[in-house]
Amino acid sequence: MKITACVFDAYGTLFDVNAAARAAAAEPGNAHFADIWEPLARDWRAKQLEYSWLRAITAEHRDFWRVTKDALDWAMEAHGLAGEEDLRDRLLALYWKLEPYPEVPEMLRALREAGLQTAILSNGSPEMLDAAVHSAGIEALLDDVISVERVGVFKPARQVYDLVTTRFDCAPYEVLFVSSNGWDISAAAGHGFVTAWVNRAGAPMERLGHPPNKQLSDLAEIPAMAAAL
Ligand code: LAC
Repeated sequence: MKITACVFDAYGTLFDVNAAARAAAAEPGNAHFADIWEPLARDWRAKQLEYSWLRAITAEHRDFWRVTKDALDWAMEAHGLAGEEDLRDRLLALYWKLEPYPEVPEMLRALREAGLQTAILSNGSPEMLDAAVHSAGIEALLDDVISVERVGVFKPARQVYDLVTTRFDCAPYEVLFVSSNGWDISAAAGHGFVTAWVNRAGAPMERLGHPPNKQLSDLAEIPAMAAAL
């Protein structure tokens, strides 16, 4: 079975979502943040995902930038940082230029050299994704950056995954979908995509059915997996 496109989740998969809080914690004047940046980053991410799912279920869509800001405000209050406007502004500014994982450019280059199409499919707003892709310098290595804003609902709504097969005019089994989010993988696999779960943290498998075709500890093996399909 031959795949024609390799499609990636963005936040947590290509871009390190902890990079903003880690970088802010190392900056002058933020010593008080150094001890709590890790739990704050964890809560920020967890709330961001929770709000995205709730907004999808209630059909009260707001774009991912709004959800990201709301989640940060919740997390900052939970960690006693409410009202620290400079820190809030800094964390949000850093979120627009999150570091990619180090293997990302080489991995994308290898996929393109093998003749595969490459794309992002993300909850991110088009503006956020453009900024992250530009800042990482990977725009020339992607055929498309697909935002859920094209359908106005977050993953794992089914119509989001349809964006990929429509864009590449292909069947689901011709798509290798890569995500660090187990719930995203489960939905994509249920949709018929071939899937690779990038499980950097060694998290347990989600109990949602549709296990991944492959579990990896980083993205470096993706070109070899794609070639073997
Ligand atoms: C994304 C989030 C879910 O990029 O990580 O879609």
